[in-house]
Amino acid sequence: MAEVTLDLRGTPKAEAYAELKTHIEAVLEGINDDVAAMATMSCLIHNAFGHLWTGFYRVVEPGKLLRVGPYQGTLGCLEIRFGKGVCGTSAAKGETVVVADVHAFPGHITCDGRSASEIVVPVFGPNRELLAVLDIDSEHKATFDDEDRRALEELMGWFSRRK
Ligand code: SME
Repeated sequence: MAEVTLDLRGTPKAEAYAELKTHIEAVLEGINDDVAAMATMSCLIHNAFGHLWTGFYRVVEPGKLLRVGPYQGTLGCLEIRFGKGVCGTSAAKGETVVVADVHAFPGHITCDGRSASEIVVPVFGPNRELLAVLDIDSEHKATFDDEDRRALEELMGWFSRRK
């Protein structure tokens, strides 16, 4: 097992995500436990890019309520209702939401005032049921684009199919 926390800052995104995915798959080989996988993915994504906050909000009441799961960063909100903030919007739509400027997003939930942009990616179970959302916050504006969306959706797709 490759026991290294990668630092991919400065590496072009396509290359960085390819390396990260290979690394995550190697580290999590044979691990079926969702919490262990979410914790490991949070750590590796967070430290690879030096994000502000990286983690999961889990569906605890389908269609209604998300509760914080494994994460890295400063204190996150404990619970978010479907439809509220960026996480709740992504959960309600079942779609990735990319926000270039969180201050321009109506209803954005501020957990850390330094947050400037974010991406939230839905995480589905084997039967396409929504399990969680992956939330990544950056202290710089417009950090995330279509390349991040594609790569993170692919990674979450691997997570959903891996068992
Ligand atoms: N940015 C999120 C809130 C969660 S925290 O920032 C960790 C949102 O608006 O959904």
